[in-house]
Amino acid sequence: MLDNEEKKEILIPAAEIAAKIKELGDKISEDYAGKELLLVCVLKGAVVFLSDLMRALKIPVKVDFIAVSSYGAATVSSGVVRILKDLEQSIEGRHVLIVEDIIDTGLTLKYLHKNLWERKPRSLRVVTLLDKPERRKVSFTPDYCGFQIPDKFVVGYGLDFNEYYRSLPEICALKKP
Ligand code: IMP
Ligand code: MG
Repeated sequence: MLDNEEKKEILIPAAEIAAKIKELGDKISEDYAGKELLLVCVLKGAVVFLSDLMRALKIPVKVDFIAVSSYGAATVSSGVVRILKDLEQSIEGRHVLIVEDIIDTGLTLKYLHKNLWERKPRSLRVVTLLDKPERRKVSFTPDYCGFQIPDKFVVGYGLDFNEYYRSLPEICALKKP
């Protein structure tokens, strides 16, 4: 069951997230000035971030969505990730920015970056709201990052635990029982 208020603590309040997204929006708008950008949102965790970030951009953007399976225990070492829902459009020759909620081991983005790069975009970068660098199994550095956080399991603002908590407006750490 869900929602035991005392089991969560606020790590990043909503106002701090909003301020950071404005900063990211300004930086990305500046970097892509005069260009058209395709935002590729990684479902489902990044949808809340996407919806705020796209409105903080001052350049023309299009959006598309991709869904990937989390690797099961057997595939962690190989880093193989399965695409559950692919993009609806070709990215060849386009400026593409992957929008992700959190980088943990790095396996998902390592795979996704390679997969999308093989489709010959003109440029390919990654923006993540959160990064847990301590947890990396493969090296991966995002081009843009909102917050580096300690090794804690976080929920809210799109991120889930068993599909719960995505609708929380702030980022919370789940306390172990
Ligand atoms: P990675 O492949 O280990 O880098 O992790 C990628 C995915 O795991 C993220 O896109 C999230 O969906 C999920 N994930 C990793 N850490 C957390 C967390 O603290 N809370 C919720 N989801 C997480
Ligand atoms: Mg994700």
